[in-house]
Amino acid sequence: MSEYDAIARLYDPWSASVIEDISFYVDEALRAGGPVVELGVGTGRIAIPIAMAGVDVIGVDSSAEMLAVCRRRADEAGIGARIDLRLGDLRKPPVDERVALVTCPFRAYLHLRDDAERLEALGAAHELLLPGGKLVFDVFTPSREDIEETHARWIEREPGIDERADWDLDAQTLTLSVRGQSGESTMTLWWLEPSRWHALLAEAGFEVLACYGWFDRRPFAGGEDSVWIASRK
Ligand SMILES: C[S@@+](CC[C@H](N)C(=O)[O-])C[C@H]1O[C@@H](n2cnc3c(N)ncnc32)[C@H](O)[C@@H]1O
Repeated sequence: MSEYDAIARLYDPWSASVIEDISFYVDEALRAGGPVVELGVGTGRIAIPIAMAGVDVIGVDSSAEMLAVCRRRADEAGIGARIDLRLGDLRKPPVDERVALVTCPFRAYLHLRDDAERLEALGAAHELLLPGGKLVFDVFTPSREDIEETHARWIEREPGIDERADWDLDAQTLTLSVRGQSGESTMTLWWLEPSRWHALLAEAGFEVLACYGWFDRRPFAGGEDSVWIASRK
């Protein structure tokens, strides 16, 4: 069971306004030429536009229900044959293929609870890459203002969908709850300073090619979001 199973039908309306990253990941996929392995593929928010742009995607996710939504959406969009969905853990992805691009969009790596899990996941992504291949992912590190503004309050994120963030500054965890008509769930995310992500990437055998502060490729300058491009040495 995954905490996403209960919100598989809520996920798309919940994330409806998150669109800023789509063209960024589509561009990376087109540059790589495909196929792409997307770790934490979810309902295909990113994978479906990539497939529609003509690039094959192997999508891995630990939530069977999220994958079921992705399968239905991909078939409805007429690109079902371009998306190969596999139930599994991104730390041990069920993927024998070797590819030029592995992605982990929309903070899915924040579901990893400690450095051992992060290194296992980064090592697994490294293993999937052809020499010179790239790992592209994004994460966040919350600001004090964001924490103070949102802590322990239910906020309407989308019509009829409420979200609550409980931040623990010492443990660097966000307990995120969401509820709506078609489901509810609570999950934990563990955040890190960008310098730690940099060090972990190096330890896992990656060279960091870029760290952006947003999906328009502006350089990272200390904001909440960081977007990483790392290559297999
Ligand atoms: C925030 S969603 C991102 C989904 C999609 N990539 C997107 O951009 O909309 C995180 C996804 O990662 C998946 N996930 C979390 N931990 C995972 C793990 N250890 N292995 C595989 N998938 C995982 C969840 O089931 C969920 O679908």
